[in-house]
Amino acid sequence: EMSPEEAAFQDKVDADIKIEPRDWMPEGYRKTLIRQIGQHAHSEIVGQLPEGNWITRAPTLERKMILLAKVQDEAGHGLYLYCAAETLGVSRDDLTEQLLSGRMKYSSIFNYPTLNWADIGAVGWLVDGAAIMNQVPLQRTSYGPYSRAMIRICKEESFHQRQGYDIMMKMAQGTPAQKRMAQDALNRFWYPSLMMFGPSDAESVHSAQSLAWKIKINSNDELRQKFVDQTVPQAEYLGLTIPDETLAWNEEKGGYDFAEPDWSEFFQVLKGNGPCNVDRLTARQKAWDDGAWVRDGLMAHAEKKRAAKVA
Ligand code: ACO
Repeated sequence: EMSPEEAAFQDKVDADIKIEPRDWMPEGYRKTLIRQIGQHAHSEIVGQLPEGNWITRAPTLERKMILLAKVQDEAGHGLYLYCAAETLGVSRDDLTEQLLSGRMKYSSIFNYPTLNWADIGAVGWLVDGAAIMNQVPLQRTSYGPYSRAMIRICKEESFHQRQGYDIMMKMAQGTPAQKRMAQDALNRFWYPSLMMFGPSDAESVHSAQSLAWKIKINSNDELRQKFVDQTVPQAEYLGLTIPDETLAWNEEKGGYDFAEPDWSEFFQVLKGNGPCNVDRLTARQKAWDDGAWVRDGLMAHAEKKRAAKVA
């Protein structure tokens, strides 16, 4: 049974009226948003690591400038999202501590290594491509601050996807060795990219409630299907092969049939056993520790100013 407050809240959601920070909301709605937005923010920040790995080794000055700008954009995305989470009554320090202690997750994809320059192309094309597929509908999510953050993020994310595709085009049209690198990057990033959308709808514990609250607009499987349908022709244009022998156009459903990723690998990565989980958390912990003097300095400065005002 819904309380009158809860019924009024659901009516607003159903009518596509945004929920704002001071509005009444069910505790579960607040908790789910903190989990999803926080996890999303952490993903943007941790996502800087695999790409930052290639800033010093970009093949040209132009590529280096583009990659630097992109990695900086990801920092900005993390900051808008932490701000959106803060409107729900959780502090950024608290979210960071939960990430570092393993109580909060970040996207599984960032636990895979970027081994060479073609991987930077594949990350932009596939990982940012999957991120956009998930985030464009989130611009219409029911929570105001989250939906507004998504609008700006999506604009920047589509530039990221294009720069990745541009790297892939260059590689795929390059020497035979470069084309092999592009194919190898696609082979390694294809299934991890499909995993980004989360487990199948049958296994997704949060989907039903999140869809009813319009925190999520589409199910995991719907978005995964859309991503495959969009990406297959892009691979064909590059002259590359999706590493899935079962891939076939299904006229009846108007989309591709494709092989599911290895879900046991996905759950292992979530448990902390992916190829780079330890590296990623070690890097975040070091950044947090190294930044302590800045946070302490800012607090001391704020304290001094407050004391001066009182005097
Ligand atoms: N990586 C890590 N964890 C995941 C992933 C993933 N790719 N997919 C699902 N999970 C986790 C969920 O967080 C949940 O665990 P939890 O209860 O401990 O939080 C569990 O697996 C079950 O999954 P669902 O019930 O399907 O979870 P949810 O409804 O939250 O759906 C999804 C997952 C689709 C990722 C959703 O949270 C979402 O849309 N988030 C916003 C987008 C986002 O975070 N993007 C980050 C990557 S893109 C980028 O940053 C460039």
